[in-house]
Amino acid sequence: MQIKFTAEPTGDAVAYFAYEGEKGVEFVGGLDKAGETSFKRAIETGTFKGGAGQIIEVLAPEWSDAGRVLLVGVGKKSAVTENGWQRAAGGLVKRLMVSGAKSLAIVGAPDRSVAANLAFGARLASYRFDLYKLNLKPEKKPTLTTVSVVTDSAAGARSDFAPLAARAEGIELARNLVSEPPNVLHPESYAERIQELTDSGLEIEVLDVAAMTKLGMGSLLGVGQGSVRGSRLVVMKWMGSKDKKSAPLALIGKGVTFDTGGISLKPGPGMQDMKGDMGGSAAVVGAMLAIAKRKAKANVVGLVGLVENMPDGNAQRPGDIVKSAAGKTIEIQNTDAEGRLVLCDVLWYAQKKFNPKAMVDLATLTGAIIISLGNEHAGVFSNNDDLVAKLTAAGKAEGEPVWRLPLGPGYDKQIDSEFADMRNIGNAGNAGSITAAQFLQRFVDDGRAWAHLDIAGTAWKPGNDNPLEPAWATGWGVRILDRLVADNYED
Ligand code: BES
Ligand code: MN
Ligand code: ZN
Repeated sequence: MQIKFTAEPTGDAVAYFAYEGEKGVEFVGGLDKAGETSFKRAIETGTFKGGAGQIIEVLAPEWSDAGRVLLVGVGKKSAVTENGWQRAAGGLVKRLMVSGAKSLAIVGAPDRSVAANLAFGARLASYRFDLYKLNLKPEKKPTLTTVSVVTDSAAGARSDFAPLAARAEGIELARNLVSEPPNVLHPESYAERIQELTDSGLEIEVLDVAAMTKLGMGSLLGVGQGSVRGSRLVVMKWMGSKDKKSAPLALIGKGVTFDTGGISLKPGPGMQDMKGDMGGSAAVVGAMLAIAKRKAKANVVGLVGLVENMPDGNAQRPGDIVKSAAGKTIEIQNTDAEGRLVLCDVLWYAQKKFNPKAMVDLATLTGAIIISLGNEHAGVFSNNDDLVAKLTAAGKAEGEPVWRLPLGPGYDKQIDSEFADMRNIGNAGNAGSITAAQFLQRFVDDGRAWAHLDIAGTAWKPGNDNPLEPAWATGWGVRILDRLVADNYED
């Protein structure tokens, strides 16, 4: 999608905005008398009030050169947020994507920042993953190729949009990675794809099986040992702060490129979704790209553990005891609780190598978080109220909300083991998302700020109707992480 900022309100389709006023619909701007009169008549025929998400579309209007004109509600003037403008533009693009219109002009942005947010929303909504749809019917092929955001402060809007364009690139990358099929995206090919991001200025290092064996990462390697693909740990560095030596923020992601459950095999129906079990890592990779592309003045490191969890003659078994790099032994009681086994070695490495001032991990860790929070909130678990406050604020602003769940010694004792320092599951049907987080916390150094985001319900959303997201892979996490950095960790 080509995005332009211009003073010219011309396109195959032209869209205007309306607020939901006390005394009826209020036009936001850009309409002449004839246009207002025409829309007023259209409003009289229906239920349009200017509410967020409402749209009126008029075809072949006499008062405009455009083939279609649209009026988009953004809600009450005092309540419309950045995200509200984004969603309004997103709704328009979704509606017009395969309509036949090639160009859309969006009129009425009250200022440059709104103009930039309209552009951002339009871009996110235009995302599609059509790589493997080689025979799309003509009526399903996108026609819309250009969105012009009409503004008289084009230069200002362009500069406001630059960091959002970087953020969008990160989101699109995360969506692509989550959507790729697991025969194409496996630990080895995934690591190679991350390495291609060096052009952005990221410094990238890949640890292979031999390197991780040397470091004693028996927990992560145990998960991958049933796969014909070698496991990988990829480290991405962005040292954008003036003080290159100041402790970085560490972002850590679960990258299980396919989760069969291993010997504790998952049931067949729906298993194809487990290609998305690398969604945490995709969020980290996408956020690192965004951070580098907008040249954030912050030190941030991203670490992703890439493994494939397969049943095999060489796969690990329930009953196996593995030794993590931190030196703790783990009794495997369920090979399907593999994400924590991957993350614990990555957490250890992040702390040993970078001594980070804070760590945030993201993982599609438990089905139980979907029982708790559905697809609306990600779960957050943390040892640090301040970090939770920062994440909560960033998530709210970005439309990626998080909800805190508790940790505590009563939950922690569930993961004690008869035979090893710990086991990898708690009691069946008993706070599974929390016991998973307790497992991770055992690998967090005392006093280190840490938050864990369980994104099993948000990394993909079947039948998603958010106008800024596609139907399945959301790219969840890029926005909250990039905002977290922008608002809290820059010089
Ligand atoms: N990747 C899954 C969690 C998951 C489930 C993500 C559904 C997205 C949708 C994870 O590895 C897993 O299998 N967790 C188990 C843990 C259990 C064995 C303690 C689960 O949630 O059932
Ligand atoms: Mn699993
Ligand atoms: Zn998993």
